[in-house]
This record gives sequence, C-alpha cells and structure tokens, in this order.
Amino acid sequence: MDIENKELISKIIPEKLPKHIAIIMDGNGRWAKKRRLPRNFGHQEGMKRVVEIVESASELGIKHLSLYAFSTENWKRPKDEIEGLMKILVLYIRNELVRLTKNNVKLKILGDISVLPDLPRKEVERAIYRTSNNTGMILNIALNYGGRDEIIRGIRLYLKDVEMGKISVEELNTNEFSKYLYTGNQPDPDLVIRPSGEFRLSNFLLYQIAYSEFWFSDILWPDFNEKYLYKAIIDYQSRNRRFGGI
Ligand code: IPE
Ligand code: IPE
Ligand code: MG
Repeated sequence: MDIENKELISKIIPEKLPKHIAIIMDGNGRWAKKRRLPRNFGHQEGMKRVVEIVESASELGIKHLSLYAFSTENWKRPKDEIEGLMKILVLYIRNELVRLTKNNVKLKILGDISVLPDLPRKEVERAIYRTSNNTGMILNIALNYGGRDEIIRGIRLYLKDVEMGKISVEELNTNEFSKYLYTGNQPDPDLVIRPSGEFRLSNFLLYQIAYSEFWFSDILWPDFNEKYLYKAIIDYQSRNRRFGGI
C-alpha cells in the first residue's frame, strides 16, 4: 500500500467510523468533456472508481455504503447516454459479482428497478439474490432513485398496511416511517460525500439525511480515489455532531 494511504488510514479512528456513507457520484460528463471524449467514457471511468471505493470502504469496515448511480430525473438525458449507462451497469455486475461475494458484500437497490430494460433488471436481480446471504458491508446502489418518489412510495406502503390493519395511524412515527423507505432498517447516512463541485442533494436520500454530515469536493468522480474517501472520513471524525442537543 502506498505511504500516503497508510498515513491517512492511521489517522482514522476505528471506533468512530461512520456506519453509513452515501456518495453522489457526479462529474463523469465533465471529466470526459475535459478530454474531448464522449460522456460515456466518463461513465466507464466512473465505474472503475465504484469498484475501488466499494473495496476500500469494505476493507475499512464501513457497514453501509450507498452510491447514487441513476436518478429518477436522469431519464431526461439523451437515449444513447442512458443506453450506455445501462450497459455499464450490466458490465459492472458481471465483472464484480464474484468479487462482491468474495468480499462478503450484500447488494441492495434503492429505487424502482421494475421499469429498467429487461437485461439490466435481470442482472441486478440475479446479483441481489446471489449476494443475499452475505453478511459484510451492505452496498446500496441507487438506481432510478428519487428521494421524493421514495417518500411517496413509503406513504403508499404505509397506507396499505393501515388498510390491512397491520399498523394504526397513531403508531406512525419517524422511526416507523423509515422502515417504509428503500433503506428499510438500515441506519441513516452519517456522512454524505458529493464530488464535482456542486453543492446540492439532487433528490438523494431526502428523508435519511436529516442529521448527516456533508463533505463536498471539486474533484470529479472519475478522479475520486480512496484517498478522498479517507480524507472525508477523517474530516467527518473531527466534526461535533449535536443532533439538536448541546
Ligand atoms: C454522474 O455524472 C453520473 C450520473 C448522473 C449517471 P454526470 O453524468 O452527471 O456528470 P456531469 O455532472 O455532467 O459532469
Ligand atoms: C446526481 O447527479 C445523480 C447521480 C449522481 C446519479 P446529476 O448530475 O443528475 O445532478 P444534477 O442534475 O447536477 O443536480
Ligand atoms: Mg451531474
């Protein structure tokens, strides 16, 4: 391992590791544009960073990692870019399934994948099934995900449970409602990382990030490496989280 990585890791306090890290993987298009390449080259390069960051996070002992891969708004993009992204997703799963299993990573999807084209949907479902007994890090890939959509879906599911008499209106509280979200019983993100120089959430995990710490950086996602992950964690560990207390 290179010396800088070793030094950075030595600064991380194991007892204060964030349980859940969420990353808005942004900047692939600008990375490609800077090199006069088509946007999908940026997405391909971005996929390599996904492989590395999943491995680094899991090695570090992070229990939940959520990666924003495709939003409900990303359907607005040109058809060829969307097709390229779907192909990259299929490639990622085909190439990585063995490694995910070896690293004991459990794959979950946040978002509605029922509307995905057949091939990527089946690949994703197969990977979820094949990793379902893994007990290590939970890797949430947000795919056709929107925070507002997720909340509305949660309300619908909750109302169905009310109709069926599984829960009463009075029983609903903030904790109970969390269970109706895609993240289910997982803890809320402690740390949200957004590279690419944008300071916005773009509809990511709106309900879950109420008390998350944020880490922004100008770096574009295809240039993101484990050093930034370590730096974000070190920074996070120096913050004073108060949750409204003193
Ligand atoms: C993030 O990179 C990947 C997806 C949203 C799928 P972008 O494609 O948004 O890259 P920029 O923001 O245009 O640089
Ligand atoms: C957020 O990036 C979504 C993902 C990273 C998948 P976008 O590029 O879609 O966000 P905006 O449009 O800049 O807000
Ligand atoms: Mg973007």
